[in-house]
Amino acid sequence: MTIPTIDVKFHDPDVIRNPYPLLSELRATGPLLRQADGTHVVTTYAAVREVLVRASDFSSANANKRMWQGDQYAEAQAVLRGTCPVVPALLTADPPLHTRHRSIVRQAFSPRRVAVLDDAIGAMTQRLVDAIVSTGDTAELIAAYAGVLPMQMITEAVGAGRDDIDQVKRWSDAFLAHIGRDVPPEEAVGYAVQRVELQEYLQARIGESRSAPTDDLLGDIVRAEQLGDGLSVPEMICILEQLLVAGNETATKLITFTAHQLATDSELQKRARADRSLVPSLLEEMLRFETPVQMKFRHVTHDTELRGEELPAGSTVMVLYGSANRDADEFPSPDDVNPDRPNVRSHVAFGYGPHLCVGAQLARVEARIAIETLLDRFESIELDTDHPRPEVRASFVHRGFDSLHLKLR
Ligand code: HEM
Repeated sequence: MTIPTIDVKFHDPDVIRNPYPLLSELRATGPLLRQADGTHVVTTYAAVREVLVRASDFSSANANKRMWQGDQYAEAQAVLRGTCPVVPALLTADPPLHTRHRSIVRQAFSPRRVAVLDDAIGAMTQRLVDAIVSTGDTAELIAAYAGVLPMQMITEAVGAGRDDIDQVKRWSDAFLAHIGRDVPPEEAVGYAVQRVELQEYLQARIGESRSAPTDDLLGDIVRAEQLGDGLSVPEMICILEQLLVAGNETATKLITFTAHQLATDSELQKRARADRSLVPSLLEEMLRFETPVQMKFRHVTHDTELRGEELPAGSTVMVLYGSANRDADEFPSPDDVNPDRPNVRSHVAFGYGPHLCVGAQLARVEARIAIETLLDRFESIELDTDHPRPEVRASFVHRGFDSLHLKLR
């Protein structure tokens, strides 16, 4: 058998806006395809889960290597080299190193810690809604609500300073802005400078935490160090960086997509108002339907096979979570939003296997409280038609609206 060859520009603005017709074509072509540059593309639910679970064949460890290759990025690379080295850590590590990182980080998202955050999330959503109400009956939801809440909560869970939230958010935005699109070299230098600033900030927080470890992730990391089971400082920084970034944008996107769905489907909104127990299933369905993290790369560690095809050592595999989540073999009528699906939680929006999202529980709680609060505090949620319809523009990898203007009454 030969692997079908494709030539797809995933960064094309039309694909970014709506990748699903293309993804459907790709699944119909095969579970495993090859891009013109040799990258293997995995499209179906079964094949995606297989790659994610075979971590010793499909490695996460050198995922960073693809960033900013070539002479035009020499200046950005030089800025990055000037500080903390980017080392394999958590998301970019394989077992057994990954297992060790994961055991330290897991405590920060234990049911006990998430329960503490639960109260904080409730209080914060009320405060944010009060502010929306005080300014009128329209709001841009990301700036006023969905972009603020997850950032505050992840900062709390990590133990970064509350006064630093705005700055951390700017660093996090810069970190994400280069992923999933072609970045001009001059822009790359700016991002590199911001990344270095974030690393220096985290290094300073680690130093402070050593003298008085707190009940948060920074404290967990420092306590592990003091017990002799420590991470190197670059490992600590890379893990904290990942959490601060992964912990805010993704949850913002989930809240925004769900609010948009409620605003554009009045029957669904009516049902959710009558029965709040619909909200958790609706969130799972929105994770499947819009999949805020559309793809990740894996690297083939040794000659192996997938779906009966040979994959050579060193080749790259693109794992399409968003395509897996629209696979009709797993999710009948995949292009319909249906929170009543019996397998509504079977999506791979949080990944699958050893790298399954460590913040999934926190994201679910945050998004549930955020949506319930909107339903509780406003009698109607509608699109604000004075603004253009929301669109996805920024990236194929991290899927989300730039803005969502709502009428909230
Ligand atoms: C709707 C919200 C979220 C989505 C869609 C999402 C998505 C994902 C996905 C797809 C992965 C797997 C990556 C892989 O296979 O390589 C992942 C891993 C991860 N996520 Fe999330 N995530 C969300 C929220 C969060 C939150 C709130 C946090 C932090 C509190 C977080 C932190 C992480 C970390 C640290 C990993 C790496 C875990 C590991 O490698 O063991 N995520 N996430």
